[in-house]
Amino acid sequence: MEKIFWNGSALLAPVPPVLVTCGTAEQANIFTVGWTGICCTHPPMTYISVRPTRFSYEIIRKSGEFVINLPTTALVKAVDFCGVRSGRNTDKITACGLHLLPSEHGDVPLLAESPVSLYCRVTEIKPLGTHDMFLAEIIGTAADSRYVDSKGKLNLQQSGLLAYAHGEYFALGRKCGAFGYSVQKKKRTNKK
Ligand SMILES: Cc1cc2nc3c(=O)[nH]c(=O)nc-3n(C[C@H](O)[C@H](O)[C@H](O)COP(=O)(O)O)c2cc1C
Repeated sequence: MEKIFWNGSALLAPVPPVLVTCGTAEQANIFTVGWTGICCTHPPMTYISVRPTRFSYEIIRKSGEFVINLPTTALVKAVDFCGVRSGRNTDKITACGLHLLPSEHGDVPLLAESPVSLYCRVTEIKPLGTHDMFLAEIIGTAADSRYVDSKGKLNLQQSGLLAYAHGEYFALGRKCGAFGYSVQKKKRTNKK
């Protein structure tokens, strides 16, 4: 197998191109973030890396809070639009026909159209270069009840989650495994 070697690059893929809401119900903004992930389970911690030139940067720095809203294929146009237009001169929420809902966990509204929203409180801002990393604790989760079954289990397969890889958007493909399945013992069937 032959490899071609390049300099270091931001080529981790796929990532979720999340819609981040910030501000308050009266003065909300939304923008797209691809540089995000989970970095601790307990306490649940995440990060978003944001260029200081973004309109949202100062809003989040001042309030110390933001909401990560998971994107779906139905939201792909909004994901792109919110990532190429600024809240400085565009009301992106109205322009995209999006709806906000109050959160139980703080002042930042969440995106009604998103299947899962994570309410985040900033713990540290780390300048890295082009982007500053907002490290944050996830203090609350809101899930669309359509995807929560009678046993309280969240099933995201039907929500149509969106992925971003090397400048392009993709719908998730078919399920091909589940956590730990490679070492799971096969269920025994009672043969008489
Ligand atoms: C798919 C995609 C991913 C993006 N990821 C990031 C990111 O991780 N960090 C960032 O600062 N900007 C990112 N952007 C760019 C911002 O979303 C964009 O500059 C936006 O207009 C900022 O909005 P604002 O000025 O209202 O804050 C991304 C854009 C797109 C389309």
